[in-house]
Amino acid sequence: MRQTSIGYSIDRAVELLKADELVAIPTETVYGLAGNGLSTTAVAKIFEAKNRPHFDPLILHTDDMDKINAFAVPLTGKLAVLSECFMPGPLTMLLERKSIVPDLTTSGLPKVAVRIPSHPTAQRLLSKLDFPLAAPSANPFGYISPTTPQHVLDNLDGKLSYILDGGRCDYGIESTIVEQKDDTIVVLRKGSIPVESIEKVVGKVTVNAVSTSKPSAPGMLHQHYAPRTPMRRMSIEEALQMYAPEQIGVLAWNTCNECIPTHNQRVLSPTSDLREAAQNLFRYMRELDQIDLMVITVDYLPEKNLGVAINDKIRRATII
Ligand code: TXA
Ligand code: MG
Repeated sequence: MRQTSIGYSIDRAVELLKADELVAIPTETVYGLAGNGLSTTAVAKIFEAKNRPHFDPLILHTDDMDKINAFAVPLTGKLAVLSECFMPGPLTMLLERKSIVPDLTTSGLPKVAVRIPSHPTAQRLLSKLDFPLAAPSANPFGYISPTTPQHVLDNLDGKLSYILDGGRCDYGIESTIVEQKDDTIVVLRKGSIPVESIEKVVGKVTVNAVSTSKPSAPGMLHQHYAPRTPMRRMSIEEALQMYAPEQIGVLAWNTCNECIPTHNQRVLSPTSDLREAAQNLFRYMRELDQIDLMVITVDYLPEKNLGVAINDKIRRATII
């Protein structure tokens, strides 16, 4: 087993990545488990460390539009328009891939997912590399995505060499994934850029983030990002009919409940700010998961802007 350390050294991260080792990197959405995306050796290590099925392809990260041309066909049409507005930032695009991209990275699919993160540490790191980084969220497959270096260490200690510290992630939920089909933009994963923002730029889009038996973006699998403690959409009154107050956790939108012990409760945004709620969502799920609880109760947030993506995460994390 490797020793995993947390630090601020970009040079150390570069050195390890060039040697096909894995490094967790900060991005503005969530932490990524990064390796050389053009190296089958490094990509295989990512799948193994995450215990991720090989049918679930990875996103390639780079710092510069020009660098994309080395591994994917140039952007055209509405994707080019979107890239001008949202790249660098929490938007991922599917592009026709070039043969330099290993099959393992894209799970054999003809398109490759590409993203340019805006996080300054990620930018600095990527600018020193002449290959893109494959980086899925740095969590074991099926568990909650990490938004701090400590979250990565909690789950993947010994499975990677280094965690590059870039503080707490600004957005807190993953990037929005889009693809262009004919002249239409299709949203494949609801994420940090709301559909409304995309539609302001390119007009009406199709949202196709529905689970199927063979999902085109397995982040769409129904049960995903789930805590180990059962999380349920139920009222506190209902929960109290089944459990004692100290056995119940509450992930609340904007207020605490006086029937449940305060230390079992997390309020996503006391000021009802969706952006703040997104930033806190995964951290609070993890914190509640660390308490010995029988159930975590939650309800949907207002279904607009970032609330749509937050509700999508809640839907996938809850059991019926
Ligand atoms: O915010 C993010 O996107 C983070 C940070 C680290 O960049 N990354 C991330 O990666 O969330 P991951 O692997 O956890 O989720 C990527 C999703 C997966 O659901 C995968 O199936 C989908 O993107 N995906 C990747 N390549 C694809 C492709 N070629 N076609 C369809 N879906 C793809
Ligand atoms: Mg993920």
